[in-house]
Formats: sequence, structure tokens, C-alpha cells
Amino acid sequence: MRPSTFVAGLAAVAAPAFAQNASICDKYTTALLKENTGANQLTLLTLLVNTVVIGNYTKPNMNAVPGILAKGTYNGTEVNLLPYFNGGLASSNRGGSSGVSINFLDDGGAVPLTMNMPSNGTSSNQYKLMTHLYQYFGALLGCSATGFPSYAGFGSQAAVHRFMDLSAAEVGYFIQQVALAATSFGVTADDVAVVGKALNTIFNVRCAPPTTVIPAQGAQLQSICQDETCLLAPMATCAAYPATMKPAKSNSTMAGSTASSNSTMGGSAAPTSSKPASYSGAAAKVGAGAAGLLAAAVLAL
Ligand code: HEM
Repeated sequence: MRPSTFVAGLAAVAAPAFAQNASICDKYTTALLKENTGANQLTLLTLLVNTVVIGNYTKPNMNAVPGILAKGTYNGTEVNLLPYFNGGLASSNRGGSSGVSINFLDDGGAVPLTMNMPSNGTSSNQYKLMTHLYQYFGALLGCSATGFPSYAGFGSQAAVHRFMDLSAAEVGYFIQQVALAATSFGVTADDVAVVGKALNTIFNVRCAPPTTVIPAQGAQLQSICQDETCLLAPMATCAAYPATMKPAKSNSTMAGSTASSNSTMGGSAAPTSSKPASYSGAAAKVGAGAAGLLAAAVLAL
């Protein structure tokens, strides 16, 4: 099936026709792909996440989506997330005391994404990242049909994003692209608002106490907004989060900047299989149990 045919039935999305306990994933899998199977849920998440990453590639669509790899502006601040993904910054956590440079666009880049695939092959950084994103955002949206893959990545998004030292504008831009991608497929403003609020509350804050997102992984530190521009979370537990610093540029060509590269920060790609360092202060007992934030909101639809 050509990607461009997926959203043909968009106008037919009729919220009242859905069972009350249908998740956002159930609702839009049915609306756009008819059968609410695990395979179709995965197709929906592939369409959504690929669009978040590279911008629109399906037609018709309801609005333009630049995608997170494109430079943009958020609340008047210029944002450029590409160097975190192409190895331009030594910002990936592979367990050491500083970040390392990894190219996550190492298996075809945008091209396989335009064909509704995560990557050309199945053993690359790109494959691992993209499939983990399908699984994670699928879990957030309530994809639970048999066959939809469980999230197989790290539980603490604070640990995963630890060496990126992200700002409120960077995280806000990412979430905005998620929202734009969703509306481009016909997700209603109300549903987008639910998802956006959950993402902003769980991830776009500083120092939040451990929170459950993936039930099987329990309560984990999830704040990925780290610098001084970030809102402090309610019941902030900053002591549980290590100090931050801006990641070093790793390769001036890839970073698209004239600054010199910093070889001492580790410019070489590391395998993606090694674990991010966990935080010693992680107080799983704080257990705010905001787990169901999105799930509860979704169930209320
Ligand atoms: C709502 C906000 C976000 C969520 C929920 C989120 C979620 C995730 C997840 C689930 C992974 C996969 C982790 C794994 O494979 O174990 C990941 C990886 C990654 N994310 Fe995010 N992310 C968010 C925002 C951002 C932002 C703003 C950036 C900015 C550049 C970013 C950059 C990355 C990168 C570079 C990776 C690969 C990390 C690695 O494997 O070392 N993310 N993210």
C-alpha cells in the first residue's frame, strides 16, 4: 500500500462512533486503517513517528509538518535538533561520565522513512532508535492490540537524554512536531491537546520525581528538560538528577558549525547496546505514580 493512500478516509473520523474505552491508538487505527490489529497499530505509529522525524511524506494531509530534523523556531528561540541525531554532538549516553557521538541516521536516513520503514536494515542505530520510538509512543497512546511490540528500550528517559542538556525550546519544538504530525493525520484538536499536555507534564519539566510511563518498567526519572529555561516540576527532586553541561560538538562538518571538534569527548560511535548510566539518586520510592496520566486521559475519551 502506498503511504499516500493511508489518510484517504480522514474526513470520516467520527469520534462518537468509538467505544468509550478506546484509546487514542485504537481510535485512529480504526479510523485510518480500518482493522484495529497490532500490525495496523504499528503502521499508524510508523506513519506518525516517521512524520515527526522527517516531516510530511504522505498525502493528503491536513497541515505541514517540518519534522524534528529541520531547523525551526519555538517561542522565538531558534532550534536545531539535527546534531543530536547525526553525531554532530557528543550527546548520547552509553554509560560513561560524558556523552558520546552517535549517528542515528546511519541506515538510509530519511529515504526508508518515506517508505514507512524505520531503516533499510535491522542492525543499525537508526533501526534501534526508530523501532523504540514506535513502541514507546505506541505505549503512550494506548496501542495494545496483540502483535503490537512492547517497548524494548531504556526506562528512564532522563538517563537516555542525560547528556543532551535540552532546553524548554528544544523539548517544546519536539512536542510541537508530534502535535503537528498528529493533526496532519486528522487527530482532533482535543486529542492532540491530551497528548501534548501529557508529554509536557511528564517530559518537558526539570527534576520531576520518578514516574511510571511503561508499567513493566516501573517508576523512573523521566524529565528530559534540563537547562535553566525549563519549568521546575511539582515535587521536584533535583538531587536525584546529576549536574548537566552542554554537549561538546563532535564533528564540525556534521554539526553544521564552524566550531572546532573536541576529540576528548569521544568522537567515535559506540554500540547502541550498552546501557545508559543510571542515576544513583534515583528514588524509585518517591513513586509519584503519575503512570496513568495519559492512560487515564485516554480512557476518559
Ligand atoms: C516528549 C519528549 C521525548 C520523548 C518522550 C522521547 C523519547 C525517546 C525514546 C523512547 C528514546 C529511545 C530510547 C532507547 O532506545 O532506549 C529516545 C531516544 C532519543 N531521543 Fe528522545 N524523546 C523526547 C524528546 C527528545 C528531544 C527534544 C530530543 C532532542 C534532540 C531527543 C533526542 C533523542 C536522541 C538523540 C535519542 C537517541 C538516544 C540514544 O540512543 O542514546 N528526544 N527518545
